[in-house]
Amino acid sequence: MTMHKLMLLPGDGIGPEIMAEVEKIVDWVSKAYSVSFDVSQGLIGGCSYDAFGVPLSDETLKTAQAVDAIIMGAVGGPKWDGVDYDKRPEAGLLRLRKELDAFANLRPAICFDALADASSLKRELVSGLDILFVRELSSGVYFGEPRGIETLADGSRVGINTQRYTEAEIERIAHVGFEMARKRGGRVASAEKSNVMEAGLLWRQIVTEIHERHYSDVELNHILADNCAMQLVKNPKQFDVILTDNLFGDLLSDEAAMLTGSLGMLPSASLGNGALPGLYEPVHGSAPDIAGEGLANPIAAVLSFAMALRYSLNMGDVATAIEQAVDRVLADNIRTGDIYTEGTVRVTTSQMGDALLKKLDDM
Ligand code: IPM
Ligand code: MG
Repeated sequence: MTMHKLMLLPGDGIGPEIMAEVEKIVDWVSKAYSVSFDVSQGLIGGCSYDAFGVPLSDETLKTAQAVDAIIMGAVGGPKWDGVDYDKRPEAGLLRLRKELDAFANLRPAICFDALADASSLKRELVSGLDILFVRELSSGVYFGEPRGIETLADGSRVGINTQRYTEAEIERIAHVGFEMARKRGGRVASAEKSNVMEAGLLWRQIVTEIHERHYSDVELNHILADNCAMQLVKNPKQFDVILTDNLFGDLLSDEAAMLTGSLGMLPSASLGNGALPGLYEPVHGSAPDIAGEGLANPIAAVLSFAMALRYSLNMGDVATAIEQAVDRVLADNIRTGDIYTEGTVRVTTSQMGDALLKKLDDM
């Protein structure tokens, strides 16, 4: 029997609730497909800060680096607002991404047909939507030095962050963008702000070079990130792959989430060079306002596990089955509150997990 090592990092807020539903699906897969999972759990984010004084401990990191795939829930919450930046919940996640060298963040934004009416945009604009964001995840302004809050000679303070991209960093994410486009619609839109930022200009130049040298079969368009934000709500179906940096990818992928009906639907995969495990996490945050009430949508987390099956565990067929189960549950009008519309059936987090299990059993 094949043995896969999984690490679950539920994190804060709704993280533990949605991860409980992922566990149910993990159990189902192991029974249905005669694979066994060696599942470990760890703390990340605010809960780790409360327990160990750091948002990601060295031990947790070491365990994480030795598994085949890591599934993360969510981090952060108002409880830790006053904590220093290097110890904040988010810093734990950033450290994990960095230590795994997880530079390629894949964020599919797919509008399930049954949810086209839950989107804030008109049905005809979003039905059939299928965009893949390829977001650079381990560099840029999130990590650039210098950074900090300093005091100037006149006693006033200055906040500093640095947008910084090396050629090599742009090259490797560009390759991922073009490779992904080849497997899909064959089109890449590369978003930056080359009109005002040197880092954006270099991004545009390198992406153009990589395209000319290796991917002339793929269509490449350059788009300014602000225009990209506008086009996403004007005519989102024009996009296939959107290749962009860490900060713009963060913003644009949240925007795209709303096209699909809810942030509660979007999974992501963060991949490195293959030597270290992939990190899989929903795009949504910890939603502290609804934590612990059974209101959260576990689908983004479950679909993140499906991405782990596809990209790290070589079980693409099982991933497809899980995605189909999601599609069918939605077609049955079963909804958590975030995707509820009149005439559908509102369920709790764990009822949604159970509905998915039942569909998987029936398939
Ligand atoms: C995301 C989140 C994270 C980010 C936070 C929690 C650090 O917003 O994954 O999109 O900004 O990358
Ligand atoms: Mg974000």
